[in-house]
Amino acid sequence: MTFAIKTLNAISPVGLQRLDRDLFDVGTDIADPRGILVRSADLHSMEIPESLYAVARAGAGTNNIPVEKMASLGIPVFNTPGANANAVKELVIAGMLLAARNLFHAADYTRTLVAEQGLHGKELDVQVETGKKRYAGFELPGRTLGVIGLGAIGVLVANAAHSLGLRVLGYDPALTIKNAWQLSPNVEQVTSVEELFSRSDMVTLHVPLVEGTKGLVNAERVALMPRGGVVLNFARGGVVDEAAVLAALDAGQLHAYINDFPTEAGAVHPKVVALPHLGASTGEAEDNCAVMAVDQLSDYLLHGN
Ligand code: MLT
Repeated sequence: MTFAIKTLNAISPVGLQRLDRDLFDVGTDIADPRGILVRSADLHSMEIPESLYAVARAGAGTNNIPVEKMASLGIPVFNTPGANANAVKELVIAGMLLAARNLFHAADYTRTLVAEQGLHGKELDVQVETGKKRYAGFELPGRTLGVIGLGAIGVLVANAAHSLGLRVLGYDPALTIKNAWQLSPNVEQVTSVEELFSRSDMVTLHVPLVEGTKGLVNAERVALMPRGGVVLNFARGGVVDEAAVLAALDAGQLHAYINDFPTEAGAVHPKVVALPHLGASTGEAEDNCAVMAVDQLSDYLLHGN
């Protein structure tokens, strides 16, 4: 007998090859799956097959899966917290640096000088000198980063930011002060999200999208930040009230918004760096997530744990 596993997204072969083909039948066109392997496909409107025993997501967030409905049917949903944390951390650090040094705007400026204005020689040199002043940035040491959510990703970000000389504040309603210190001695934990916003030059989000985190970044909280702040969203789009953030960018209250969950309005805003959900998109993270998801699913199907 083989266990049928349906893949709803491309899952790294490094994970799939762990499945013994004498025991598992794996593919995209399986009609009555025992297990489902998914990355970003939205399962909310999917008819749940009667044959289904378990779902595994190659990623940390489970908001694309109807977890409560699955639970009511006794179908466990596995995810892979931590497996892509380093990839997200590196992109957060890249985002802070590109915001601090105006990299996207500066590179676009230089490209336009040559590709659209056709400048060269002395004319180009003059405009390079202008760009050098226009896109002057700021350095990170001495600035404060507020990390909302001190899970696997938040703690890695906090430690990396600390090593770059940033003061790091952390807020996570699920943790006691003792726990936060044990997770990372580099984080000063604050007890309210308002305190975090009012003391942070940059705020980075690492919480799941749940009822309590919807619109967590709103107009009132952004207004508490020192002028010229930066918001980085590698969590989920719904955690940010984007209209409020765009208004704060227009007013100069915010300097930049790095958003991994682009909307039409945000994608065309000159102070937004809108990315196509790249946080976990490295070969290493995709392999790690696939291995963890596959192992959990196959263990459950074979042994019930
Ligand atoms: C996650 O929740 O970890 C990410 O959404 C993974 C992904 O990019 O698919």
